[in-house]
Amino acid sequence: MAKNIVNKTQNEKLFVADVRQKVTFSIIESYKNIRTNVLSLMAKKNAKIIAISSPNASEGKSTTALNLAITLSQLGKKVLIIDADTHKPSLHRKLKIDNQIGLLELLLGKATLSEAAHAHNDFLDIITCNTSTPNPSEILGSEKFDELMQEFKENYDCIILDTPPVNPVADTLVIAQKIDLLILVVRASTTTYDAFKKTLKALKVLDLGVDGVIINGADPRPKSYYKSKYSYYKSSKYYY
Ligand SMILES: Nc1ncnc2c1ncn2[C@@H]1O[C@H](COP(=O)(O)OP(=O)(O)OP(=O)(O)O)[C@@H](O)[C@H]1O
Ligand SMILES: [Mg+2]
Repeated sequence: MAKNIVNKTQNEKLFVADVRQKVTFSIIESYKNIRTNVLSLMAKKNAKIIAISSPNASEGKSTTALNLAITLSQLGKKVLIIDADTHKPSLHRKLKIDNQIGLLELLLGKATLSEAAHAHNDFLDIITCNTSTPNPSEILGSEKFDELMQEFKENYDCIILDTPPVNPVADTLVIAQKIDLLILVVRASTTTYDAFKKTLKALKVLDLGVDGVIINGADPRPKSYYKSKYSYYKSSKYYY
C-alpha cells in the first residue's frame, strides 16, 4: 500500500502554478481533449507507458504531465506518474511532498515500490525524483529500469513519465527507447522552430518518432491567427 499523503478523491482539481489562478472551463476542456486523444493513441498502440518531454526547459512538461495524470485518474484509471527528470525534478515541489525516496532509489535497489510511491488519491500514485546521481542516463538505461516498467505495467493502466527536455540532456533519448508513446510539449510563446526541429532530428537518429504534440499556452484567439503564425506545426499531430 502506498503512503496516503493527500486525502483527496478522484475529483482532484487540476494543478495550476499559482493558487490564485482559476482553473477555467477552457483549461479543463483542453485537458479532457488531450486525455481523449491520448486514450485513443493508447488503445491503437496497446500502449501504457507515456513519456512527456519538450525541446527545451520550462515549456510546460511537468504541468502537462501532472494534469494529464489527474485527468486520466478522474476516469477511474489507475495511473502512476513518475518524475524522471533527474536534473530538475519538480513534481515533489508542485505537490509539496518529500523526494528523498523516489525513482533513483528504486532503480538502485535502495527502496521498494511501497516505500517510493505516494498515493495522491485512490487512482493516482506518484514517484518523485531527486538529483542524487551524477550519471542519470546510465541508470535510466539500465535493465532495472525495464524491469520496473514491466512491474508498473502489471499494476497500473497508465504510467506517465515526466522527463527532462530533449535538446540539452541525453536522458529522454534513453527513456524514449523504452516507452510506448512519446508526447512533446511546445510552448506557444517560446519554443522556436529550430529547437523543435533539433528535437525531431535527435529522435530520428535513433529511429524514434513523436506520437503527439501539445501546444501549451496557446492563445484562444481565432484559429486563423494561429494558422499564419504557427503553420510550421502543420505536419505534426497536435491536441490543443
Ligand atoms: N500555460 C501556462 N501558463 C502559465 N504558466 C505556465 C504555463 N505552463 C507552465 N507554466 C509555468 O511555467 C513554469 C514551467 O512549467 P513546468 O514546470 O510545467 O515546465 P517544464 O517544462 O517541466 O520545466 P523544466 O524544464 O524546468 O522541467 C512553471 O512555473 C509553470 O507553472
Ligand atoms: Mg519539469
